[in-house]
Amino acid sequence: MVNPRQLRSLVRIVEVGPRDGLQNEAGSIDVATRVALIERLADAGLSAIEAASFVSPKWVPQMAGSAEVMRALRRKPGVSYSALTPNLQGFEAALAAGCDEAGVFGAASEAFSRKNINCSIAESIERFRPVVEAAREHGMRCRGYVSCALGCPYEGAVEPQAVARLAATLYEMGCYEISLGDTIGVGTPASTLRVFEACAAVVPVDRLAGHFHDTWGMAIANIHAVLGLGVEAFDASVGGLGGCPYSPGASGNVATEDLVYLLHGQGIETGIDLDALVDCAAYISAALGRAPQSKVARALLAQRARAEGKS
Ligand code: HMG
Ligand code: MG
Repeated sequence: MVNPRQLRSLVRIVEVGPRDGLQNEAGSIDVATRVALIERLADAGLSAIEAASFVSPKWVPQMAGSAEVMRALRRKPGVSYSALTPNLQGFEAALAAGCDEAGVFGAASEAFSRKNINCSIAESIERFRPVVEAAREHGMRCRGYVSCALGCPYEGAVEPQAVARLAATLYEMGCYEISLGDTIGVGTPASTLRVFEACAAVVPVDRLAGHFHDTWGMAIANIHAVLGLGVEAFDASVGGLGGCPYSPGASGNVATEDLVYLLHGQGIETGIDLDALVDCAAYISAALGRAPQSKVARALLAQRARAEGKS
């Protein structure tokens, strides 16, 4: 077990709310709201924000307008604004829109690969290769995602070795970090450790990231488990927004505020202001017409209401 104190200031949070969070909303969110959310997140201290997704608007209409979002943003120095780029067409659009980082996303399950990006795993690898190459030529980093790392909505169980194979391929191709996605949020600490250990045998552990959806309530427990392995990067979504339109029944990502509360409680610095982050959760939840869902946002907002009632 790694002593959490040794991890101080090493954990990096990738905020995926503006992409993973909003791609799954029933209605599309206007550009101004998306921009305001991203700017507020940057002001709260998030330094890596997945701001956009250059996918087909026929497949994910919620992410249409990503170029407008990128162009309208007030950029904060030191913040990296990334986007999903499934193919060269998406990469070129991300480059033109001024994204700092690209992202290719594959799956460890054949059925999910076909449903999500309309090709086999092997075909997806050949599509990703020129994207990673083009990113390198333009001095942009490219991240790799492996969906269905803990289970597939269509095939069920997924072998850890299948996850490790794709993770190794993406890493060898030039992706600087491999985000392992529990797309349907079924992992437990034991199954998560098995998958991360298999991947850590072929990709340096500090190049792995965790991307946990919280469908079965295990996301925070899974993060705590792999922190002990030395994983240093986690994806999270403000307010616990999120899901994948091609993953029926999956809920949002681990809420960023829950993750920040965990890390700060472990003595691990993140540079994120928890109060300001909860304000971001309240802002986007109000824009979506609901109350913030995460445990930490609800607890902190209730605490504030009690304090105001007393004063
Ligand atoms: P396709 O239909 O096989 O693509 O879709 P195609 O190359 O045959 O092109 C067909 C049409 O799409 C053409 O337009 C292209 O121009 C257009 P038409 O001539 O019919 O008008 N097209 C594009 N348009 C905009 N941007 C592009 C693009 N590429 C082609 N980049 C494709 C293949 C990958 C495009 C499609 O399947 C797609 O867009 N899928 C996206 C699915 C998606 O975004 N899913 C959610 C994100 S993944 C996720 O959430 C999981 C993750 O969070 C991790 C986890 O939780 O596990 C990352
Ligand atoms: Mg996801």
